[in-house]
Amino acid sequence: ATNRTFTMIKPDAVENGHIGAIIEKIQTAGFKIVAMKYTQLSEADAKAFYEVHKERPFYGELVAFMSRGPIVAAVLEKDNAVEDFRTLIGATNPEEAAEGTIRKLFATSLSENAVHGSDSDENAAIESNFHFSGREIYA
Ligand code: CMP
Repeated sequence: ATNRTFTMIKPDAVENGHIGAIIEKIQTAGFKIVAMKYTQLSEADAKAFYEVHKERPFYGELVAFMSRGPIVAAVLEKDNAVEDFRTLIGATNPEEAAEGTIRKLFATSLSENAVHGSDSDENAAIESNFHFSGREIYA
């Protein structure tokens, strides 16, 4: 079924000038952009967004990284969106990501891995609502 996922182009990829190339890959793969904004997470925003990871040893590093510079947040629509987008971005660790995936092409490291992709339909909705109001989403 057609459904939605949520993505962020993370600060490393923005800093490295990869916004355009990443959006090109996303659209070429058949995802329809239904919401998009250039924004920056405050430290409090990043803490809240990554709350599920708060007991992890990398939480502090993750929050500092995700709030250090601007990001591009977007909601994407496609048949099988969550799973297909995770395939497109590749493994969390770019060294393990398949050839041609966004992380293989554009990520810096495990902790600075260029893009976010929701891991379930439920989280896609929660994460989209974190960044976008209903009237910022246009199908
Ligand atoms: P993502 O899956 O988008 O969201 C959680 C992020 O935590 C993940 O991407 C990585 O960027 C980061 N992460 C996961 N594991 C580690 C780790 N071992 N060390 C540092 N960062 C990590």
